[in-house]
Amino acid sequence: MVHESFQTVDSQLNWESPMYKLWEKAKKNGKWDPAEIDFTQDKIDYENMTDDERITILPLVASFAGGEEAVTLDILPMVQLMARQGRLEDTMFLSTFMFDEAKHTELFSRWQKEIGIQNIDLTSFHGDSYKRIFYEELPEKMERLNTDDSPEAIIKAATVYNMIVEGILAETGYYSFRQIFKKAGMLPGILQGIDYLNQDEGRHLRFGIYTIQRHVAGNEKNYKIFIDYMDELWPDAYGVIEYLTTLYDIQVAQDWVRTRFDFDSNIMREYAKRQFEIRKNQVDRARKYADAVQLEQEWTTEV
Ligand code: FE2
Ligand code: FE2
Repeated sequence: MVHESFQTVDSQLNWESPMYKLWEKAKKNGKWDPAEIDFTQDKIDYENMTDDERITILPLVASFAGGEEAVTLDILPMVQLMARQGRLEDTMFLSTFMFDEAKHTELFSRWQKEIGIQNIDLTSFHGDSYKRIFYEELPEKMERLNTDDSPEAIIKAATVYNMIVEGILAETGYYSFRQIFKKAGMLPGILQGIDYLNQDEGRHLRFGIYTIQRHVAGNEKNYKIFIDYMDELWPDAYGVIEYLTTLYDIQVAQDWVRTRFDFDSNIMREYAKRQFEIRKNQVDRARKYADAVQLEQEWTTEV
């Protein structure tokens, strides 16, 4: 591909565009360093945990660590696609996106190292649904962008990456983490990291919603592609949550005397279901616009 012209030479950056605004937010709010988080108390808390309590944290860490690593490794085709399509502001924003994901990956690896469990292989905590989404569906749909610029390819990539992985699984994970460990007054280091992560993921989600919405505005065929794919992925997305909650129930709820947690895993299941509906509704809102141009005008005031 050769360049025909340069946007910052012949006109300028589109300062009011939604993705430029997100880039500004990322520069301002994304300044944190996993290496500066103090995990001293986390190490003490972990050492004082019973085996049952550890079985609550380790599957969550295994899910988060694998998930963050997957999204770090798999984002590049989306960056290249936006660059190929001449979307400069999207490409600029995605440069922060990839940096964020790399920091998230560092956070969970660093946490395992700092509390002294770096030699434990947590792979066995990845169930069938987790494997289907993170080992197969996510990389396949992202890799497809290397050779396919179609709306269907873009919608499916953003749906599995931003809506399912970030919008449902990660959000449910943060929520559960806080419900379990914040309430119990444990693991302040990783909880601080999760607060940073949550803020970063808010921006990532905005990118995903906007990207899908652009294709859905004025295009019912594309809307159907989105909805059908969400429904196709839902059993495995829920399967990830079901696996974690079942483990929790076996280890903790039925043996509550030996743990200090006060968390009803049904709340986690309900939370995930609610996220699924919220993500669908967010994309649904784009249907009222005639096209992507009209959508962008509205977004400018919304972001
Ligand atoms: Fe992340
Ligand atoms: Fe993310």
